[in-house]
Amino acid sequence: MRPSSCFRPVRPVAGHAAAMLRKALGSSAFRLSLGLGLQRGRVLGAIFPGIPASACRVHSPQPNGTRRHELVRTDGSTVCSLHHYSTGSSSRTTLDPSEFKKFQALASRWWDERGAFAALHSMNSLRVPFVRDNLLKIHQGLQGGRLLSGMRILDVGCGGGLLSEPLARLGADVMGVDPVEDNVRIAELHSSSDPALRERLQYRACTIEELSSEEREAFDAIVASELVEHLLDVDVFIQCCHQVLKPGGLLFITTINKTKLSYVLGIVVAEHLLHIVPPGTHTWEKFISPVDLERMLESNGFCVESIQGMLFNPLSGSWSWAESTALNYALCAVKGREEQPPSHTHGPEQQRTHDGGAADQERRES
Ligand SMILES: C[S@@+](CC[C@H](N)C(=O)[O-])C[C@H]1O[C@@H](n2cnc3c(N)ncnc32)[C@H](O)[C@@H]1O
Repeated sequence: MRPSSCFRPVRPVAGHAAAMLRKALGSSAFRLSLGLGLQRGRVLGAIFPGIPASACRVHSPQPNGTRRHELVRTDGSTVCSLHHYSTGSSSRTTLDPSEFKKFQALASRWWDERGAFAALHSMNSLRVPFVRDNLLKIHQGLQGGRLLSGMRILDVGCGGGLLSEPLARLGADVMGVDPVEDNVRIAELHSSSDPALRERLQYRACTIEELSSEEREAFDAIVASELVEHLLDVDVFIQCCHQVLKPGGLLFITTINKTKLSYVLGIVVAEHLLHIVPPGTHTWEKFISPVDLERMLESNGFCVESIQGMLFNPLSGSWSWAESTALNYALCAVKGREEQPPSHTHGPEQQRTHDGGAADQERRES
């Protein structure tokens, strides 16, 4: 679709920008986009001082439902560009401004293996084999000597690239996306020291809803590790995953269950007593049980293949697989092929690594 645009010249720009801001505040997605600019202290700094005349250009909705707003200078150059994601009549985005702010503040700490993200570094011992082994079930043979050569993987909420890098080292072409630009810069900087990653790893500062218009059915797998508990709208996230995954592609999620135990151990103990992660990292209300996540996935055209419990040992700083999903868990789901209707139930061919009785009851506990 060719974007038509309505072009409204205004003078002075400060007055218009203020009006635009006021209007925009009615929309959470827009407020967020502006918030991103404010966060970095660049956008408004660039808008207000000394721009003699400018305009607001509003593009018509793109096929994926995003609408782009731009502030442009008189010479036509863009001062800032803001994306507005809408589904139906309501604006919907995955991005929670408070989460953006939180991760922006931590951006310099990704590669400190003993710092705020130490538990994510050590989680690689479980999640890398989990992704690799499930992918090898659908991947035909070796290309170029590496296990995942020929596979295209999207790492959503990649942070500093802690998971993107090892997946690229296994031979996959990896794209890491994160809305926090500083995270992306850190990830790029870190990977640039390894020439083997240069061709196989790229990063972009964006959300999956922004990516979904250009990358339809483009990835063999998506990894979303320790992300969904930070999203504003998990449903939008899942819908976008469905759009960008190839039919038969795999979605890997690791996250935290919504149980009393996860409140006590995941928030009170991990954040406030042991400082394994900084206080305020998690909001218990945003945790999601495997049962609820599975339901959302299945109503959006995915079939959940396996769910496994994960346990962190604060003494050794290491992770192990666990029978129980009461705290952390890893999930693998497959995008149904064309011929399968969206909310199908599990076929007999699917191997599920969790039992449907006691474990489901435990997952339901909240
Ligand atoms: C706990 S970190 C996990 C980072 C990485 N996946 C890992 O496990 O090493 C959560 C990441 O999600 C990012 N994030 C927050 N909201 C997001 C959104 N709506 N879309 C994509 N990423 C988001 C944050 O900036 C942060 O980098």
